[in-house]
Amino acid sequence: MNKKLTLSCLLLFVLSFTFLLQSKSIKNHVVKTTCLQKSLAERIDSVLTIMTLEEKVGQLNQYSSNWTTGPVSPEANKLQDIKDGKVGSMLNVKGAEKTRAIQKIALQSRMKIPLLFGLDVIHGYKTTFPIPLAEACSWDLAAMELTARIAATEAAAAGVHWTFAPMVDIARDPRWGRVMEGAGEDTYLGCAIAKARVKGFQGGQLGKTDAVMACAKHFAAYGAAIGGRDYNSVDMSERTLFEVYLPPFKAAVDAGAATFMNSFNDVNGVPATGNPHLQRDILKGKWGFNGFVVSDWGSIVEMQTHGFAKSLKESAFIAINAGNDMDMESRAYTKNLATLVTEGKVSITVVDEAVKRILLKKFELGLFDDPYKFCNEKRETQAFQNPQHRIIAKEMAQKSIVLLKNQNSILPLNKQQKVALIGPLAKSKIDMLGFWNVEWDDNSDVVSQYEGLELKIGKNNLLYAKGCEVNDSSEIGFAEAITIAKQADVVLLSMGETRDISGEARSRANIHFPGVQEKLIKAIVATGKPVVMLINAGRPLVFNWAADHVSAILYTWWLGSEAGNAIADVLYGDYNPSAKLTMSFPQSEGQIPVYYNHFNTGRPQLNSHEQYASGYKDASSLPKFPFGFGLSYTSFEYSDLKLSSNTMKADGKIDVSFTLKNSGKIKGEEVVQLYLKDEVASLVRPIKELKGFEKVMLQAGESKEIKFTIDKEKLSFFNNKLEWLAESGKFQLMIGASSDDLKLKSSFELID
Ligand code: BGC
Repeated sequence: MNKKLTLSCLLLFVLSFTFLLQSKSIKNHVVKTTCLQKSLAERIDSVLTIMTLEEKVGQLNQYSSNWTTGPVSPEANKLQDIKDGKVGSMLNVKGAEKTRAIQKIALQSRMKIPLLFGLDVIHGYKTTFPIPLAEACSWDLAAMELTARIAATEAAAAGVHWTFAPMVDIARDPRWGRVMEGAGEDTYLGCAIAKARVKGFQGGQLGKTDAVMACAKHFAAYGAAIGGRDYNSVDMSERTLFEVYLPPFKAAVDAGAATFMNSFNDVNGVPATGNPHLQRDILKGKWGFNGFVVSDWGSIVEMQTHGFAKSLKESAFIAINAGNDMDMESRAYTKNLATLVTEGKVSITVVDEAVKRILLKKFELGLFDDPYKFCNEKRETQAFQNPQHRIIAKEMAQKSIVLLKNQNSILPLNKQQKVALIGPLAKSKIDMLGFWNVEWDDNSDVVSQYEGLELKIGKNNLLYAKGCEVNDSSEIGFAEAITIAKQADVVLLSMGETRDISGEARSRANIHFPGVQEKLIKAIVATGKPVVMLINAGRPLVFNWAADHVSAILYTWWLGSEAGNAIADVLYGDYNPSAKLTMSFPQSEGQIPVYYNHFNTGRPQLNSHEQYASGYKDASSLPKFPFGFGLSYTSFEYSDLKLSSNTMKADGKIDVSFTLKNSGKIKGEEVVQLYLKDEVASLVRPIKELKGFEKVMLQAGESKEIKFTIDKEKLSFFNNKLEWLAESGKFQLMIGASSDDLKLKSSFELID
């Protein structure tokens, strides 16, 4: 820094400090200092030095607008508190106009520190993309990065600085309603998706007007809530925590995630929010995370309900010391932190550290230089009207649809066939958006399935009947639906969950179709007409009867703004389905958790009649549809597996190659999957683990050589001392089209 500038900075600092001492008020925009070349650390320190304790605590406080996404919190005079410098961030404020108006109030505070505006931009802002679990089924990292990028562009233009996404919780239990927000059950894939999404939201660099801060959540192990009951406890070994649940969080840190959110659950008896081991030792210590941690909604106050803190004051004490920087809607910090510091119970250094982390992000975003930088009505309108966003929403929706069954190649349909579209979700717009969409007054721009089909084939060949509501007990609409079905060549049955059935606080013990939907399926199948099911849901559902009796099934999740168009494209072959499940689909709730990468046990059940084996007396232990499964309108052949060597040294690698051929008549994409199994180790290892994948597009008849590399990293696991290492010995290598459809097999040995 040049000398003159340093001196003037120093002078400015001394002047402002003296001024503060004298008048206790700061007229100039303290942070709009001209010392732009100062290092961020210096700038942060220069702000921190002139803040009162109350103002510091204010930075750690986050309020929601009156639009809430959690239980009602105690009253607060929010606008006055903002003016008084008692708020560092607001959530649930959206729109350039509103964020600007509230930011204006923050700038009336003594320190004039800009607010951070946070929002759950989970799968889109104005343009809604498929729910994250659906997108994950595309296995298309670039596409997922792109939808996050667009969501960020739209949100940032509307004054949002920070999304509470991605949710990177590994989820093996479809009863848990929040599986819809994540990437599914697999850690390897979950890490790749976590990275892609963080990169997408944050763009090249924080501070650009099209980038928002990402927030990896919910730290940690929230997805392992016992019994799939939301907010429930988690009890697991440290090794499983490290091996299965933490890696996507680590991947998010490595990708530069600006923030983390902790979680509602306790982990082995310690609430995550008050857990120093997770937040201080692992996240901020071992992983060197330099962003800040926000609590989940009210998770600080809830430590009392957990029975972990006697009072709100003690909750605040525990949370701040455990490394929870910002308090979302508990009011624990505003009410207690200053007193705790004054009483000497919480060190000011701990508070300062938390404040610095938050100020750092405000600086990185450029808010101190221009607090209104992100709320820009013109950019907002442009972003909302960008036709490209809709095109990408449609492409992403196409890529997320999983073809689960296609008997006698009934799909794709041809436009000459008369189609009866039947079911409670066929004309719904709002349900296409799914849970955690950003809510708008008008959803007329969402394309329903009926509209998508009408656009594709016109009205003449399209019949419609609702049949029943999603959660109906009445069969009154069945007769009309049957009559309509009989007039058609093929029936499309649109069933599943409305958008509020999966999501936060939407755990279900029974994950079959709600209401009388299954009865309707039976009644329609009884007409003898071929039935194609469109299953709309936020989680894997159980639908054995339908799976065994209908002709074809497209799992269409909740696909967002362009749902209807994407579904019509797939139905008529304008897009060849390419998605594969990232969660195993159970045959019954009693099997849950069912996931592909389990241990073998000493008595694996090799067939369902085996007596003394690890299975169920009354049910199979296999999933209905396995992890990695999904069909295409074309077929693929796997051949010619080659390994560069059958032995590998720890510092070496093995090149794996094979030939993939599109053996069908149309072009299509295949997600090839590589699995490994460590045959014998000092700890038992999963029967297979995904360690590589590639999405490959091939023209009809085309062949391609696909390559993977095996290195030590792919062979490593956490031992009981939590050391990440690869043990020498034999490994099985499997390549295939799903975790259950392994076409090529070989083995190799890791040698000392
Ligand atoms: C959820 C978070 C969400 C927050 C703010 C909580 O109830 O668990 O995932 O980001 O609310 O809406």
